[in-house]
Amino acid sequence: MGSALRTAVLIVSDTAAADASTDKSGSILKATFAEDGAGKWDEPTVEIVPDDIAHIQRTVRSWTDTYGDAYMNLVVTTGGTGFAKKDWTPEAIEPLLHRKAPGLVHAMLRTSFEVTPFAMMSRPVAGVRNKTVILTLPGSPKGAKENLQAVLKLLPHACMQAAGEDSRTAHVGGVKKLEQDAGLGSDVPKADDSHNHDHHHHHHHHGGHGGHKVPKAHTSPAERPQSNDLRLGATARARSSPYPMLSVADAVAAVLARTPAAIAENLPMSPSLTGAVVAEDIKALEAVPAYRASIVDGYAVRIPEPSSSLKGTFPVASVSHAQASSMPPPLEAKTIARITTGAPLPENANAVVMVEDTTIASATADGIEEATVTILTSDLEAGENIREPGSDIPKDSLILRKGTRISAIGGEIGLLAAGGITSVPVYRRPRVGVMSTGDEVTDISDTSAPLSGGQIRDSNRPSLLSLIRGWNLCSEVVDLGIARDTPADALETALRDALRSSDVDVIITTGGVSMGELDLLKPTVERKLGGEVVFGRVSMKPGKPTTFASVPFKESKDGARAERLLFGLPGNPASAIVTANLFLLPCLQKMNGLEGNGLEVVPVSVSDKIKCDPARVEYHRVVVSVDHQSGKLIARSTGMQRSSRVGSLANANALLELPQKQGFLQPGERCNALMMGHL
Ligand SMILES: *[C@@H]1O[C@H](CO)[C@@H](O)[C@H](O)[C@H]1NC(C)=O
Repeated sequence: MGSALRTAVLIVSDTAAADASTDKSGSILKATFAEDGAGKWDEPTVEIVPDDIAHIQRTVRSWTDTYGDAYMNLVVTTGGTGFAKKDWTPEAIEPLLHRKAPGLVHAMLRTSFEVTPFAMMSRPVAGVRNKTVILTLPGSPKGAKENLQAVLKLLPHACMQAAGEDSRTAHVGGVKKLEQDAGLGSDVPKADDSHNHDHHHHHHHHGGHGGHKVPKAHTSPAERPQSNDLRLGATARARSSPYPMLSVADAVAAVLARTPAAIAENLPMSPSLTGAVVAEDIKALEAVPAYRASIVDGYAVRIPEPSSSLKGTFPVASVSHAQASSMPPPLEAKTIARITTGAPLPENANAVVMVEDTTIASATADGIEEATVTILTSDLEAGENIREPGSDIPKDSLILRKGTRISAIGGEIGLLAAGGITSVPVYRRPRVGVMSTGDEVTDISDTSAPLSGGQIRDSNRPSLLSLIRGWNLCSEVVDLGIARDTPADALETALRDALRSSDVDVIITTGGVSMGELDLLKPTVERKLGGEVVFGRVSMKPGKPTTFASVPFKESKDGARAERLLFGLPGNPASAIVTANLFLLPCLQKMNGLEGNGLEVVPVSVSDKIKCDPARVEYHRVVVSVDHQSGKLIARSTGMQRSSRVGSLANANALLELPQKQGFLQPGERCNALMMGHL
């Protein structure tokens, strides 16, 4: 059987992690491999970690996620499989498993049951990650040993298959030989043909090889991630999705966990910053106003003493306009200066009398301007009608806090401009690209011929481009066109181009994500681009096949490896818009330095009876408006909600988050609405 199999034992225990001398399982399991392992195992590597998911996962991955021959054939953990508060080993291991092995779990539990009913207090998991078989043994040294013994004989076979050994050479002699190798007699329940579905299923392909030849797979297990193999025919493809179904909240959390943190940059001040989020506290570089300015049109005067009255007639010595490029001269004694709103006051003026409180006493010789003016009021006080320098915005005062979003209303842009800010620290806004996929979609600009056969107009791409641009969270939203299904590498090429030439941080595709035969996205991501499908199904309606992946991308500048995010949105128009709002929006918000809370949630009352779905949360397209009599927000359905119906979105400004339940929401009942647009 060639060289010995490599194995690792992971002791999961806070106590042993603090003091390795307290551990007994390590040496007992080492001895079990040596004594009961039929000489097939190297001496195990033993490591100890505390009861902590991150520790467990990191250590296991160091054994399973390495290339070449460095990986372990088998990893067994011991401890943390019970019901105590700190027992988290199954929760740490399960997400790492690419394929599960309930048979191993069953064998371990059955053995324990023969010894004690306490077996039901153990929660073991087992399976395969990359090329490594992983199982979780109980924490007690005795239980761990018994469980390992229960499966040890067949583990070499499992490990070699998992490692991708050519099973035809490995299994010359068939199951009988395997059992012999494993030292199993006929008294042991065995994996005969009728139990071993894999062997049974392929029997006819290899029936001519004499005896029971175990069939040879056309891919090694390492090449068999979860997606459909593009090279197999439609009949060989999985009938149900291999991706676990996530709740909407878990899917959003997974998106946020993969979304890179926001990066600050300085951009020139411009209205195009609308939508960006301020990355540092910003202080005014200039005072507003920068000089003492008049609030009214009138005459700048000098009141000598607080209580003195200025009633009387005065010569107009000068004129000060708001657009003046230089300061007006100081007032000479007993003169006044004409001044317009916003204009700077002569240095020694201390009040402005409104033009309404004056009359012209005499005009200049040419008759065009006033020569003398009579002030009619005696109530004018020093400081009246003047804005002091910095009275609106003092110099160096905080004008925008870190985390403020620059709104389209204009207030923040105005403040930045007034405060003399020329370079604005904001979070870098990502570049996003939108791509349609499929041979059936026809670009809206392609009017050369009427639609034929199964062709459809590509409404998703224009609609997503409009949605995403409207969010103002991207530096650019790039139209990546349509990627065809044929030739076979068309999608791969289009995705690579999007990353390289268009330099996008996030790719959004629509179509190509459900179980249909031509759904190429997941296999292309996993098999061609070396990416990881983070999730491939979400429990929601519409939008169940929503896919989120990360794709490795070689950064051109420093050659560092970076990840790019990919959202594979369903091809149905309503599904695409709903899922973009639910999953893409929080991602872009986080990249922009926001919380990533998605759409704003408001409570509304429904105006019509609406059917709920007992199986999935449903996002029902509605129009939310204010009922002017009651002052409350009411939601009216946009009608038939089939996910292919584009019309269910036209006019809709919100998504009603229908609870998962049997029956209906009755008119007047309260429900949460996610606001996509304005009231
Ligand atoms: C192991 O699996 C992980 C997760 O699917 C993957 O990222 C990694 O590249 C794999 N490593 C090897 C050596 O196959």
